[in-house]
Amino acid sequence: MCGIIGFVGKEPAAPILLDGLARMEYRGYDSAGVAVRSETAGLQIRKTKGRLQVLSDLIHGGADLDGSLGIGHTRWATHGEPNDINAHPHVSENGRIALVHNGIIENYMELKEHLMRQGVHFTSDTDTEVVAQLLEFHYNECHNMLEAVGRCLRRIEGSYAFGIICADYPNALIAARKDSPLIIGYGKNGNFIASDVTAIIKYTRDVAYMDDGEIAVLTADSVDVFDDEMSPVEKAHSTIDWDVSAAEKGGYAHFMAKEIMEQPEAIRKTVSPRIRDGRVVLDDLHLPEEYVRGLSRIFVIACGSSYHVGVVSKYIWEKLLRRPVEVVLASEFRYSDPLVDERTLVIVISQSGETLDTMAAMREAKRRGGRTLAIVNVVGSSIAREADDVLYTWAGPEIAVATTKAYSTQLVLMDLVGLYLAEKLGTVAEDEYEAILSEMQLLPDKMQRFLDHTEDIQYFASRYFNHGSVFFIGRNLDYAMGLEGSLKLKEISYIHSEAYASGELKHGTISLIESGTLVVALGTYAPLFDKAMSNVVEVKARGAEVLALTTEDFREKMEKTADATIAVPVTHPLLQPSLGVVPLQLFAYYVALQRGCDIDKPRNLAKSVTVE
Ligand code: AGP
Repeated sequence: MCGIIGFVGKEPAAPILLDGLARMEYRGYDSAGVAVRSETAGLQIRKTKGRLQVLSDLIHGGADLDGSLGIGHTRWATHGEPNDINAHPHVSENGRIALVHNGIIENYMELKEHLMRQGVHFTSDTDTEVVAQLLEFHYNECHNMLEAVGRCLRRIEGSYAFGIICADYPNALIAARKDSPLIIGYGKNGNFIASDVTAIIKYTRDVAYMDDGEIAVLTADSVDVFDDEMSPVEKAHSTIDWDVSAAEKGGYAHFMAKEIMEQPEAIRKTVSPRIRDGRVVLDDLHLPEEYVRGLSRIFVIACGSSYHVGVVSKYIWEKLLRRPVEVVLASEFRYSDPLVDERTLVIVISQSGETLDTMAAMREAKRRGGRTLAIVNVVGSSIAREADDVLYTWAGPEIAVATTKAYSTQLVLMDLVGLYLAEKLGTVAEDEYEAILSEMQLLPDKMQRFLDHTEDIQYFASRYFNHGSVFFIGRNLDYAMGLEGSLKLKEISYIHSEAYASGELKHGTISLIESGTLVVALGTYAPLFDKAMSNVVEVKARGAEVLALTTEDFREKMEKTADATIAVPVTHPLLQPSLGVVPLQLFAYYVALQRGCDIDKPRNLAKSVTVE
């Protein structure tokens, strides 16, 4: 969501605004801008699409803009696509009022049409510009900025946190708030407004939280707050005393956001120690070669996202090992009278290592003579201690209930074990072995390259967050990856969704596709891309809105048909889900953010399910 900062004081505003915006980057954004009032140049507006660095470079770190009164904004597009014109601040037609906004003006079209009938010209597609023009309209009526703000707020419907400056008021920063958070910061050399504390904690810990309907007028030496009746309000001050857990977020709004961004490093830590001289080396795995060659079957048992890792790995392992791999939900396995004997290898995947269903299934497998290998993230956990062998994912502590980096490191570790077993079985060609290993070592950099540009996903999330149900469709590895994308969306945004084998749609479920149904079409597995395209056409023909996920080399082709397209870098086809899952995690995150969900602690869920 958008980030706002404002400053009025005794030192240059522009560097402070840029610094504050940088501390709010974790909120996600697609463009950024500042407005600074200059004694000589009036309102100086600078705004750009893209990363904050682009803006900072444009104004040389703020040095180009003189003045000690200003507002800054990082935008997360809701109305109007990400571009320079739609970026904030927005300015009134006469250029004398600048405004930044976090929220949504529900009746902006009605107001826009009214103003256009008054001869006002608009430049952007945003709801926010309407407020800038409305402010000028009312300011021209009453010639008093505070009164103009009051009149304006009485006419708009929706949510807002506003930062406002006017060329005619050289010492005043005006703020207003309804539904979107806005904080007042009391500093030594000036006063602040901000969307959250991270933006200003460097300058002050003395803050007050604006309440709905309030308007604040800040100068370098004073802060006056009024309620919606324009009666003065005495605000209680708070001192920010950040608790350790908040600090562990490293400035991210949620642990989930932090852990999504940590994935390249987590994968690097999990993979690198297990590749030596071009070979997979698993020192902690004690499977004699004759045991591996004598394997009669392989089970993978797990729950939730860990189970989804098993489904992806099934496709990969069966290609590499040419042996049947059966993936079973742990809660089903234990009551299914499973066919396990001494020649059965049972892979047990669990981030927490404490999931009761998985623990019980593993015990049942051991009781029937199977050999158990656990893939676990928590060192010394119960499953790790009881399995015959354990390989740890080095993802580091994962706090968010919705797993991301643990899923990703489980997946690459399963890739490594698959290559290791295939080499022992002699079922993988040397060039294929080397190609996979080579690409595996490039995954972190390719993933980072994608994570550096997530603006489009934020934008798509702001377009699609209100859908009541979502289909994730794909084939083969895309289908398997879609299971995780669907669960991520369900568990943190509470939107019902379903992952469906796209070839199976026509056998019944396609009857649910109607005009406007959101379908996330997964087409990253290159060997079946044409099939994925035909399924996009199939659902489009029935009115679906298609958000497609593909690889960079197929983006252009997909864009011709899909309504929106996300593309990830190309890697080895068997490793493609490791990259494709990241946009699905981000999509779920940004949708949940839009919906105001408790992202790190979704309702009804626990990080470790230690009950049956
Ligand atoms: C993942 O986002 C979920 N929180 C949940 O499905 C989880 O994967 C499942 O409970 C298994 O947990 P484990 O990996 O710790 O065994």
